[in-house]
Amino acid sequence: MKTMPVLDFDPLDPAYRADPYPSYHRLRREAPVYRTPRGHWLLSRYRECAEVFRDRRFGHGSGRVLQENSFRRPVEGRSKPFILLDPPEHTRLRSLVNKAFTPRIVDRLAGRIQEVVDALLDEVVGAGPVDFMATFAHPLPVTVISELLGVPAADRHLIKELSHVVARGVDPDFRHEPDQVRRRAEAFTAFDEYFRALIAERRDRPAADLLSELVAARSEGEGLTEGELLTTCILLYVAGHETTMDLLGNGVLALMRNPGEWRRLRDDPGLAESAVEELLRYDPPTQMSRRTVLADVEIDGYPIAEGEQVVILRGAANRDPEVFPDPDRLDLTRRDNRHLAFDGGIHFCVGAPLARLEGRIAFASLARRAPGLTLAGGELGYRDNLIIRGLAALPVDARS
Ligand code: HEM
Repeated sequence: MKTMPVLDFDPLDPAYRADPYPSYHRLRREAPVYRTPRGHWLLSRYRECAEVFRDRRFGHGSGRVLQENSFRRPVEGRSKPFILLDPPEHTRLRSLVNKAFTPRIVDRLAGRIQEVVDALLDEVVGAGPVDFMATFAHPLPVTVISELLGVPAADRHLIKELSHVVARGVDPDFRHEPDQVRRRAEAFTAFDEYFRALIAERRDRPAADLLSELVAARSEGEGLTEGELLTTCILLYVAGHETTMDLLGNGVLALMRNPGEWRRLRDDPGLAESAVEELLRYDPPTQMSRRTVLADVEIDGYPIAEGEQVVILRGAANRDPEVFPDPDRLDLTRRDNRHLAFDGGIHFCVGAPLARLEGRIAFASLARRAPGLTLAGGELGYRDNLIIRGLAALPVDARS
């Protein structure tokens, strides 16, 4: 059996938080399949990461109810969101939701997204230094997913904090103090109560929104149970904006740090579509995914037993020089950009067409309306999250 090299890879180190990519390169070079002292297997090469997404011997493990010692332990006895389920439950729930996210349906949202972007830019452009996260990157996807799902504008501030707590809670349990675990459980309970009331309203008076469609699917008999409906709403709401926000924030930061690429986008805002793909590759909003080994496997000569945990480092895979030439270079017209920012395999992001559309409209509009955009100085700090990589604040001056 191959021996495991000893490495000091530490994702809790502030230097890793500020810039994880040197650590990923080292890991990929020295131990592309690496067992951490906690017993997690880290994968940093593109080929193994992509393979695990496709291989049915990796999944989330049996049980539709979150177990006491599960990686994500929100509230005992509550249904797992389908992002944590294996087939056949995963297939059933995902196909119901997928109907709302076909590229054709999403394309119809373009006009409304442009309106929201324009209104936000009206406030930001020429206003002097502002926090891009608070004034643009957060409100855009929140507005879009809220309107799509049917969350009234007046309620959004109520669930903002809950959403942040849930997003913070996706990290593994060893990252949480007991107080955070309690807050996460409370956030889920409050979210349940919120959506239970909204679902009851839609059952009485259906509206033209996704929530009404999901409720209708349930009443047709073979749809979602009440518990599944609640976890699906929370999943869509949180996944629908906490990551898109970081595509926008990480993307603007990358462009400001690569002025030549920003200039290219300003000169030709039509590049926004491929720019979004490159920004997702370059600094993906979710850095890793976890899978449980469902049947004994071997990866690169290492036997890995059923029940062990594999962590796919997509931030590392996205910079693998075997797949992406000159991987640390931001290149808005990169060809054959098969990044893993949205995963691969059966859990490929349901919201990818929507996130791409929001990103394309946002970056093209910024390039047109705020060509003089600059960073406004100050220390940049990341939110305390291992899995989701995003800035706490991004001071900018959006000059026209
Ligand atoms: C740039 C923005 C986004 C990124 C980077 C992103 C990334 C991801 C990734 C990596 C996964 C797979 C996670 C895993 O398997 O462990 C995922 C799944 C998912 N995403 Fe997204 N996402 C984004 C936007 C959205 C949006 C806008 C929505 C909803 C409107 C959404 C809804 C979902 C759902 C429901 C799943 C679960 C899919 C499944 O398990 O089959 N995401 N996303």
